[in-house]
Amino acid sequence: MITKKDIKNAEKFVEGCTDDPSGHDISHVRRVMSNALRIIEADNICDIDVNLTLFCCALHDIDDRKFAKDGEPKHINLQRFCKLYGCDKVFDEACEIIDGISFTDNPIRDDKMRIEAKVAQDADRLDALGAIGIARAFSYGGFTGRSLYSGRDSTVSHFYDKLFKLPELMNTDAARRIAVERVEYMREFITRLENECLAYTK
Ligand code: ADP
Ligand code: NI
Repeated sequence: MITKKDIKNAEKFVEGCTDDPSGHDISHVRRVMSNALRIIEADNICDIDVNLTLFCCALHDIDDRKFAKDGEPKHINLQRFCKLYGCDKVFDEACEIIDGISFTDNPIRDDKMRIEAKVAQDADRLDALGAIGIARAFSYGGFTGRSLYSGRDSTVSHFYDKLFKLPELMNTDAARRIAVERVEYMREFITRLENECLAYTK
């Protein structure tokens, strides 16, 4: 069973693991954890292991494939954490939940996913939306050397390819409501950005 202390340890572990411009730092993790609590409360979800959900939210990005070294086992950092802090018993469950969060691995909604994974997935996706989602997208775009708005691989194209589609992929009602409102704001922003940029290309 995951305790509050395990969650605190997980947060501390993440502080030393991830970096900022890619959008996976401890502040992302804390927002995801708080989104998860907000969803659980708003939808009155009772049949859920809250501590396990928060634990997985805390550790969900430490083995992100984008930053993994060649040949490294899939959950190497999670495994390290579990060994170091005596959480071996939940390693398999945590892997299952964390694997459920990924957009690339789970592009369509899977109603059979366990509730902890559904909530954690929604909580992570909410942090890609709204004002924070815009900030993270442009930060990530800068980090990976993408252009702001020109071409198929620009940061703006990511809004159309992925971010605007997220509301319909949400598992929970609460996350869907928040997502719809956040995407509305993002669409306004992108329309304005496109109008401003068009003025310079005329
Ligand atoms: P997470 O699942 O933690 O949100 P991702 O690794 O999918 O993390 O993305 C991190 C942030 O970078 C998100 O806010 C996401 O929208 C953004 N991002 C991911 N891919 C791109 C891209 N190709 N262009 C711009 N932003 C991106
Ligand atoms: Ni994340």
